[in-house]
Amino acid sequence: MTRTVKICVLISGTGSNLQALIDARESGRLDIEIIHVISNVADAPGLERARSHGIQTSILEHGAFVDRAAFDHALSLLASAGEPELVVLAGFMRIIGPAMLAPFDGRMINLHPSLLPLYKGTSTYQRALDAGDARHGASIHFVTDQLDGGPVISQVVIPIVPGDDAGSLAARLAPMEHRLVVATVEHFTRHRVECSDGLVLIDGAPIEKPLLLQADDRLSA
Ligand code: GRF
Repeated sequence: MTRTVKICVLISGTGSNLQALIDARESGRLDIEIIHVISNVADAPGLERARSHGIQTSILEHGAFVDRAAFDHALSLLASAGEPELVVLAGFMRIIGPAMLAPFDGRMINLHPSLLPLYKGTSTYQRALDAGDARHGASIHFVTDQLDGGPVISQVVIPIVPGDDAGSLAARLAPMEHRLVVATVEHFTRHRVECSDGLVLIDGAPIEKPLLLQADDRLSA
């Protein structure tokens, strides 16, 4: 059973993961309503993707605020409008502070391009290559006060192949991220996932490892 989940999506750039959510909604795969897309970058291409699908957009430029806390407070007010049940950070390149964390504790997820806990922060593709890793991937985790450090819900893994550079790795990972974000949000629409005491619960039971995206686009242990 699903119930339409109201979602607010935060972006800073291209918005291809936002597009994946829009497409999954329109194809009937996801029972969601994207009620608001907020960007901290005024010309983020993802904003036009939202507008062209009739989704409300807002721009909140961090440079216009005196400090991080003021931006965070304004973001919290804006994101709370319409009472979304879930906030999805899809390429949102700002650190989330306390004013935003508090109202969305356990209801805010972030997509990160690494197999967390490896490579928090930026330049994840290059760092995986420099380390000589055989595989890379993306993770979706609950947002906490630890940068890219919240409980990990789901991951997708791809091989690193000879000749890969950061660009080729990012290009190969991107479509897998789209599938991961859709499959993970689907778990929310089915009320299968929650965060409790720093643990991810699936169907009410804590998981020891993140769920993995399978070839059939389902998540499993
Ligand atoms: C993704 O690679 C995501 O992992 C990272 O930023 C990128 C967002 O891409 N955090 P897009 O804006 O959704 O196209």
